[in-house]
Amino acid sequence: MDSIVVTGNGPLNGQIEIAGAKNACLTLMPATLLTEEPLTLTNAPRLSDIRTMTVLLQSLGAEVSALQDGKVLAMSSHDIHNHTAEYDIVRKMRASILVLGPMLARDGHAIVSLPGGCAIGARPVDLHLKALEALGAELELKDGYVHAKAPGGRLVGGTIDFPFVSVGATENALLAAVLAKGTTVINNAAREPEIVDLVECLRKMGAQIEGEGRSTITVQGVDRLNGATHPVVADRIELGTYMLAPAICGGEVELLGGSMDLIGAFVEKLEATGVSVEATPNGVLVSRKNGRVQAVDVTTEPFPGFPTDLQAQMMALLCTAEGTSVLEEKIFENRFMHAPELMRMGAQIDVSGGTAKVTGVEKLKGAPVMATDLRASVSLILAGLAAEGETRVSRVYHLDRGYEKVVRKLSGVGAQIERVKEG
Ligand code: UD1
Repeated sequence: MDSIVVTGNGPLNGQIEIAGAKNACLTLMPATLLTEEPLTLTNAPRLSDIRTMTVLLQSLGAEVSALQDGKVLAMSSHDIHNHTAEYDIVRKMRASILVLGPMLARDGHAIVSLPGGCAIGARPVDLHLKALEALGAELELKDGYVHAKAPGGRLVGGTIDFPFVSVGATENALLAAVLAKGTTVINNAAREPEIVDLVECLRKMGAQIEGEGRSTITVQGVDRLNGATHPVVADRIELGTYMLAPAICGGEVELLGGSMDLIGAFVEKLEATGVSVEATPNGVLVSRKNGRVQAVDVTTEPFPGFPTDLQAQMMALLCTAEGTSVLEEKIFENRFMHAPELMRMGAQIDVSGGTAKVTGVEKLKGAPVMATDLRASVSLILAGLAAEGETRVSRVYHLDRGYEKVVRKLSGVGAQIERVKEG
């Protein structure tokens, strides 16, 4: 199993290219199941989660080819001969549940394993299932699998009222409603940029959708969808993560391909710490020239609020701030597992329920630490970049799920970082 070894060595300077969004790509890929014509995604990220979705779609009969070193995904679902998404693949990645809506919409039946538990919280899929029931689906849970049928072979439009915002459930609802008969209204829909990206792609495929980016989305079902080519939106979480690198180490780094509109709430908090952020013709320029950053309070919320997927990384920065910051996690109940690891590096953090109080220290100290989930793993790397001495982050397979070429991207701006084989 590989580890990442980071040695803190001062300011970072240069440019980092931002990849296409993992979370957008994972919801765009199942859209191939909605049409017999080819769907091609460009600007795809090269990540293990994308490979898992590829294997899942292939297991159903879809053709998926990674071209141009994986940056282009050429997909075709003219022959879907298997309608069961097996546990062995689904358990690896919760987003696998996103094949349920489109398979059911296309052929009127589907069997999908329930995703297992996840380290950052219980994360049930009840809202996904309720949304499909609102479109007429009949569901039965048997032996860990959801058996879904559309009576008469086709879903029918309906009203979906989400009790709270769920990104995945909104995506599954959209992927099902586009081929349902009649009109679907989704209330309390997620407004994330990845939802907007999915709608833009579905529209190119011939879907009739209005309201993306707002909390009510209306879908007019159509009889068939066509193929399309669509570029995956930039990864706002990768963008925010790398914006934190010069913030925590000092220096000046330009992020190429990202836009501040994707993470307004995060930019506001970063600026409040004293870091300078400005838009450039090619992306975003972040610099910290002198002094320590200042403490700031952060509460995670659905978009357009501060993203939960940047909470761990922001905590790494605040560990080095002047003063005490309060971080409130409102999306996932168990998402402070990085805190004890950061404390091994000398951070002062007091976690109580969904709140973490972070009192900044002047300097973190390198230590062996363990990645517990995807975002936690990169927060430990950021902390290591700013620490005195060597930090060894183990269990980096979490990192490979969501960050491509981390070592190359960070060493390109002057970080001392390498991947080493262990054991
Ligand atoms: C997506 C993102 C993930 C991000 C999260 C919140 C993908 C592949 N993943 O995850 O990186 O952290 O949005 O921005 O896009 N919930 C239920 N029942 C459900 C569904 C969700 O109770 O059926 C709960 C979850 O446990 C969580 C909250 O709703 O507490 C929000 O989760 P959701 O927005 O659905 O997250 P995901 O789509 O799984």
